Amino acid sequence: MPAQRPRVITTIAEMREVIAAERAAGRTVALTPTLGALHDGHLAHVARAAEVADTRVVSIFVNPTQFTQPEDLERYPRTLDADLDRLAEHRVEFVFAPDVDEMYPTGPTKITVHAGDVGGTFEGKSRPGHFDGVLTVVAKLLGIVTPDVVTFGQKDAQQLFLVRRMIADLNIGTRVEVIDTVREPDGLALSSRNRFLSPAERRAARTLSAALEAAVSASERGIDAALAAAQGALMGEPLVDLDYFAVVHPETFRPVDDDYRGRATAIVAARLGATRLIDNEPLRIG
Ligand code: PAF
Repeated sequence: MPAQRPRVITTIAEMREVIAAERAAGRTVALTPTLGALHDGHLAHVARAAEVADTRVVSIFVNPTQFTQPEDLERYPRTLDADLDRLAEHRVEFVFAPDVDEMYPTGPTKITVHAGDVGGTFEGKSRPGHFDGVLTVVAKLLGIVTPDVVTFGQKDAQQLFLVRRMIADLNIGTRVEVIDTVREPDGLALSSRNRFLSPAERRAARTLSAALEAAVSASERGIDAALAAAQGALMGEPLVDLDYFAVVHPETFRPVDDDYRGRATAIVAARLGATRLIDNEPLRIG
């Protein structure tokens, strides 16, 4: 017998009723926010969510306010049927899948969460306003589902940093559970965008994680050594159009100083043809 699909909820009112019933029954709730097009990386979230809460809600909402290019929004894969089958395998209880009118009945919200200085760097530099859109929809989802725990992936390091900062700054009573990046056997981080890579781009994409691994291996010799090792790995792959490679401080998400010693995160972004990929790896400098 096929596994039972999650119950799909499309209105905020029904989502609130369901959460009230879960709470009345004494159950804790974990939320995994997604844009859909689920892959094994997302499934690692729901597997972990099952360990830290009684009831799981996965939101599937392609949030228009975080897309800076209309064509990116248009081509974002919408695969609800397949997503529900994958979540059924993990016995997820609820999917919250509102449409755009339900979330933004009068258009984009007049009040938004501003991602601050870090919101304009790295990913935010090439996609201005992206993180305001992300934080605003995450704030809305947290307000609707009021989860005890929300899962976010290490894969989107800047998003994770900003969500944590928002939750701390706005005193939101939800705990963040960080989920490690899931990788292909050759190191490529799983992403809904990988499906857009041509075979040659797919082979070249391996260079991103190779650069991160090189930086991690060299990191005990200092920041310059880590950056040089990454540059060495990235050079000579013509299909990789590098946007940035940097090593950032865990508390500021700013590039670390030349003499920095301690925990940090190496981050990379590159374009392969029309597809932009990001990745990162925590490391220790010195
Ligand atoms: O990381 C994502 O999938 C999205 O940015 C999120 C957190 C679901 C907000 O739309």
